Amino acid sequence: MPDMAPPTTAILVAGSANLDFVVRAAQIPAPSQTVLGRDFQTYPGGKGANQAVACARAGNAATRMLLALGPDDFAKPLRSSLQQAGVVLHEVLSSKTTGTAFICVSDDGENAITVAPGANEDLRPEHWNTVPADVPFSYLLMQLETPLPTVQAFALAAREQGAKVVLNAAPARDLPNELLALIDILIVNEGELATLCRSAVASGDTHDLRQQLQHMAGLGIATVIVTLGSQGCLALHQGQFIEQTAFKIQVLDTTAAGDTFCGSLVAALAQDATLALNLPAALRTASAASALACMRLGAQSSIPTRQQVLDFLATYSA
Ligand code: RIB
Repeated sequence: MPDMAPPTTAILVAGSANLDFVVRAAQIPAPSQTVLGRDFQTYPGGKGANQAVACARAGNAATRMLLALGPDDFAKPLRSSLQQAGVVLHEVLSSKTTGTAFICVSDDGENAITVAPGANEDLRPEHWNTVPADVPFSYLLMQLETPLPTVQAFALAAREQGAKVVLNAAPARDLPNELLALIDILIVNEGELATLCRSAVASGDTHDLRQQLQHMAGLGIATVIVTLGSQGCLALHQGQFIEQTAFKIQVLDTTAAGDTFCGSLVAALAQDATLALNLPAALRTASAASALACMRLGAQSSIPTRQQVLDFLATYSA
């Protein structure tokens, strides 16, 4: 038998980085309402950067990130948070302001987020070349806070290089079937799933969650996962449904809980080529990491390390 090359377990995350401006308040303001908040803080955030940090802290795979930052002080804490987590950066310098997000977190841990994309809008298809061609990676993980043509071009390029493409379709938006056809693993919350089904289905009953997952799978996506907050998550992998219940915890701040799930899941999957065997265990690990993120404030500041997740799983009792 010829010598087999060792499996490449590197992950490339391509996406957004935002500096989060966070205020805590009793409740999130309704339209036209002003609420008086309390303490204010900035945190490194952005769905892409959060997911890269979650991958790196999960510790199973080398993590790289392709991102665009502005020539300003907002970029500095973002760069250093990613680097401290062990993420190797492939940076595009934009003339726009670094991405920012304005977040209100209520006392029951819910949030409302408005993103000003800034430099993230300047991540373009041609920037794929910013990552040297000889850099190995087995998974590309993306979100929707960068331009859609970029997401689609990167997905195609990664497929051509033999990597699996994971898309967290957040924030919710319609997606062309040409992009969905390039996705191996789709991760969405209920709202994002409903948006995708609405745009993709001309008629038919897609109200039932399982039917919605089946609809997305019918577009050629091998694995579709919907996160359900306190209800856990549900996956459809090659015709089989897999349920993972949520860990019961005291919620402080749900910001980046979904990002932690995505990054931890891909890191867990990257350690094993046999996805079908590994998926239930990966869903459990990702759910535990996401639960821990809900117990802490901020985005990247809330993402646990591998050891913290293992300790939580060892001591957790419902
Ligand atoms: O998913 C949470 C993230 O959404 C925040 O960190 C914010 O920057 C926005 O991108």
